[in-house]
Amino acid sequence: MTTPKSPLPPASSPVPRPPSREAPGPAASRPPAVVELRGATKSYPGGVHALRGVDLTVHEGEMLAVVGPSGSGKSTMLQIMGTLDKPTTGTVEVAGYDVGALSDAQLSALRARHIGFVFQHFHLAAGRDAVDNVADGLLYAGVSPRERRARAREALARVRLDHRYSHTPSELSGGEKQRVAIARALVGGPRLLLADEPTGALDTASGEIVMELLHELHAAGTTVCVITHDNEIADSLPRRVRFRDGEIVSDTSSERAVSR
Ligand SMILES: Nc1ncnc2c1ncn2[C@@H]1O[C@H](COP(=O)(O)OP(=O)(O)OP(=O)(O)O)[C@@H](O)[C@H]1O
Ligand SMILES: [Mg+2]
Repeated sequence: MTTPKSPLPPASSPVPRPPSREAPGPAASRPPAVVELRGATKSYPGGVHALRGVDLTVHEGEMLAVVGPSGSGKSTMLQIMGTLDKPTTGTVEVAGYDVGALSDAQLSALRARHIGFVFQHFHLAAGRDAVDNVADGLLYAGVSPRERRARAREALARVRLDHRYSHTPSELSGGEKQRVAIARALVGGPRLLLADEPTGALDTASGEIVMELLHELHAAGTTVCVITHDNEIADSLPRRVRFRDGEIVSDTSSERAVSR
């Protein structure tokens, strides 16, 4: 799992308008799709087929768990959903944009505006305090440094870390580090939050706090997709997508998903 290596251009980079949609039909009462994968495959040299044809639609306001054995393709799919990677074949739409038709600069702009990421091992910058780490989440959003830091403090308060503004990652517990990472993911107001094993490196109590925060974000309107090995967490989410050998083998929703 990697974060984008090259610096992102400003979010003001031109992004083409989403394709216009057909007149609303009977399904129009459903919220719009935030992400849509159609026939997505991912192959690597040497005959590794990480994804073997994945169809998945995630609608605005959903919260889903992605589960499955190690190596089944979960992270690969999350990276493709987040436009950090492209499928070998198939199509991906994010917020109505055909990802395959966008330039790298446009993809970066799309990510900066719409998507937040949280990773198992936090991916925080060592030696930089919590405010700076969170402010980095706005680096490509066309916001002044002063405004970035002000918004970073607000985001840290939202994850209840306003008493740790000036702590660097080495001065924070694992749970606190993940809360900083969540603050960084949410500071730009993303529509979609993608989390790859966000509790995987945490003790139970810290993991519960992290999940509470993700639930709060969901309740506030963010679409949240969480990869997890923890069955208890998966069972607590409204929708569960199960992977095996690069394919979705089940996709189940509970009442809570429908009642949203
Ligand atoms: N860059 C790469 N080159 C070659 N093979 C890769 C690459 N990235 C992933 N794979 C392979 O693709 C398959 C799916 O990997 P992926 O990371 O998506 O699995 P996962 O379901 O997230 O597993 P885990 O639960 O262990 O994180 C694995 O067999 C992996 O070895
Ligand atoms: Mg993984």
